[in-house]
Parts: sequence; structure tokens; C-alpha cells
Amino acid sequence: MVAPLTVGIAGLGTVGAETVRLIEANASQLAVRCGRGVRVVAVTARSKAKKRGLDLRGVRWAKDPLALATDPEIECFVELMGGDGEPARAAIEAALGAGKSVVTANKALIAKHGLRLAKLAERHGGALNFEAAVGAAIPIVKTLREGLAGTAVDRVYGILNGTCNYILTRMEQEGLSFAECLKDAQRLGYAEANPSFDVDGHDTAQKLSILASLAFGTEVAQRAVYVEGISSITPQDLRAAEELGYRIKLLGVAVRTKTGIEQRVHPTMVPRASSVAQVMGVTNAVTIDGAGIAPITLVGPGAGGAATASAVVADIADVARGLRALPFGRPADRLKPTKKAPMERHEGGYYIRLMARDLAGTAATIATRLAERGISLESIVQRHPDRASDHGISTRPSSPVPVILITYATSEDAMRGALQAVQRDKVISGRPQVIRIEKN
Ligand code: HSE
Repeated sequence: MVAPLTVGIAGLGTVGAETVRLIEANASQLAVRCGRGVRVVAVTARSKAKKRGLDLRGVRWAKDPLALATDPEIECFVELMGGDGEPARAAIEAALGAGKSVVTANKALIAKHGLRLAKLAERHGGALNFEAAVGAAIPIVKTLREGLAGTAVDRVYGILNGTCNYILTRMEQEGLSFAECLKDAQRLGYAEANPSFDVDGHDTAQKLSILASLAFGTEVAQRAVYVEGISSITPQDLRAAEELGYRIKLLGVAVRTKTGIEQRVHPTMVPRASSVAQVMGVTNAVTIDGAGIAPITLVGPGAGGAATASAVVADIADVARGLRALPFGRPADRLKPTKKAPMERHEGGYYIRLMARDLAGTAATIATRLAERGISLESIVQRHPDRASDHGISTRPSSPVPVILITYATSEDAMRGALQAVQRDKVISGRPQVIRIEKN
């Protein structure tokens, strides 16, 4: 009979406490599936006194994360403290350096130090598993790293932040402002402590950088991701999207292009019939495109104690089984350097909302400027003043009216140049709203 895997858990917040509970509740199933049991032998957290509703009798309390990481009795160190700095980083390095396996849900740490940690794990023979870092319960890390090892992925994209999807869903369904929905997301505990991390796209960028590395064999690097958040999106944009057959989602997209791997996070118009367009509320979804896989979409809860613990325990189970995949699916020193893609070279369709002077010749001027740069229009809609009030716009005869353009694929450089020319023509007021379109 093989002895149970001995586990030490640093961090007993929502995810840590749920992980202890799940291991306990599924002990016999884990023993059968892994061929050996899984036993939490020691834990550590900021406060020992805090009430967690856990039965920790028989579990040692380690002095600090570093002591736990190097505890000779521990085979698998589980880091659930979060943060891209200390104590998480030093504790993980110490555990890997001691040849132990590490399981973490820490997207920030993997996005920042993943390459170095992977090299350390490979050198010392331990596993470095981080399924819970992206999409919580959605097994997307394993899917890219193992399930699609024989497939050349062309594009991976998805809704990786529940807070943003919740905000956009409520704005669309109830016509509420961004600020109102953000307040509710905070009240319900969806948003990170600093909501800018969610709504400005950084949380999505960290997760995307991990997916890009797994999908394309690039070095994981958050700085290689172009990032825009959702705070400029208005209920008018969401309504226009609906009328035009689209929905607006904050997407993380990593795609193979002629000039390299493009990694970008921005509000995106997606066709209403696409899989990701169906995903509402805090749910996450990831779509993977590649030859012969036509594409695959995984949908599920991307945050929360139980959903995240599900992935953490699956990673621990792999350690118990003796499975040790390379952290990024290939040797860390074979990962290719990656740099931020110049967005001016991005190619795709665009949604453009302009506030235009309601005079003869305005639409012709706009169309001419676009045509001069070879930009072809899929549609152009000018709101009649009577209908403009539906879009929250004043209907005084002289006030500007919204003009909404959908372009066919063009370069971002050409589109920006055309808009600058239109601004110089003084036929529009304010800044144009531009949203990239992602076709499925
Ligand atoms: N704040 C994140 C979200 C939590 O809204 O999805 C999970 O990383």
C-alpha cells in the first residue's frame, strides 16, 4: 500500500479552506483515482485564530509559508496566498528548490515569474501545476498543455474575467451605466480588491499570457499583452451591437499572425451567434481554434472558492498519481521570447461610433476618408434625430447625431489614419468610439 501524498497548504482564505474541505470530502474517491491517498499534514495562514469552520485537528500549523515549503514531511506544497511577490514567490522557489511539487492558483505570480519557476521545477524534478490560475474550474491549462499536445493551435480567446462579463451583461440587459454595474460587482464580491485590475483588463492579461505560452510555446510574459479595459463602453454601444448582430465582451485573444503571436485584451464585438456571445454574467469561456478541432469552447465558473478548489485538488491529484507534465508543455528553455505586437499592424473589422454633424455631405466625407485608405464599409447607420433619443442623445436640431460604422477587415493603422482625417474635416465632435470585431 503506497503512503498518502503529504500536502502542505499556505493560505486558508476562501480557496484554501475549500481545498481542505474538498480533499476531506473526496478522500476515498481520490485514493481510488490516484492509487494513493491525499493527506493535508500542515497548513499556514496569516491568522491562526480566525474561524474557518474547518476541522484542523491532526494538522500541524507551520510557523510561516517558507517553513511549510521546506518542511521535510511535505511532498506537495500548495500556495493559495496570491500576489506576485513575497511571501508566495520565495516559498514556491524554496519548495521547488527542495525538489517538492508545487500547486498554485496564483495567476499574477505565474504571469510574472512563470518562466523562472518552470526552469526551477524542471531542474529539481518537481511538478509546477497551476490549473486554477486561469478560468478556475475550467480545465483549460490541461487542455492546452496535454489534450492538444498534437494540435497546432492558431488562436485561443475567451472571457477570462467574470467581473467584466457581469458588468457588460447587466449594462446590456438593463441599460445601466458602467459605474452602476461596477458598484454592484464590488458589493457582490466579484471584483478584485482593486477593481481597476479587473475592469482595466490586467487580470485578463495575466491569464491570457499563461494561455498564450501553453498554446504557442512562447515565454509567459504579461508585458507582451496589449491591454484596454471596458470603462469607455456605454449602454449606447451595447444597444448598437445588439442591433447589428453582435455582443460586446472583454476578450483576451492570442493569435498566430504573419508577424508573430499577437496577444491582446480589449472590448470586442463578437457575432451574436458565437459561443462566447452566449456567455453571460460571471461565467468564463475559452475558445481554441486550430486545424481539425473546429473550434473547442470550454465554459464554466472562472472564480469562487469551490470552483477554484476543484482545479487545485485536480492538480494535487496529478502529483499523487506521479504525473509530471512540463509546466508549459515543453522544456522551459525551448519557449520562444515574445514581445508586444504593434497594434497598428493589427488587422480586423471595426465598429466605430462617431458623433457627426447632421448636415448634407457628412456621411460622404466620412466614407471618402475611409475609402482613401482602402477601408470598405460593411454598414453605416446614421440615427435620425427622433431615434437618437433612444441612444441617450439630445434631439435639438443642431446637435450631432450618432453615426455607426462597421468596417470590413482593414489595418488598425489605416482605420486610425482615416479617423484623424475625419476629425480634421471637423464633421464630428468628441472622440470616436472604436471597438475591434473578432470573427468566429
Ligand atoms: N476578479 C476575477 C474575476 C477573479 O472577476 O474573474 C478570478 O480571477
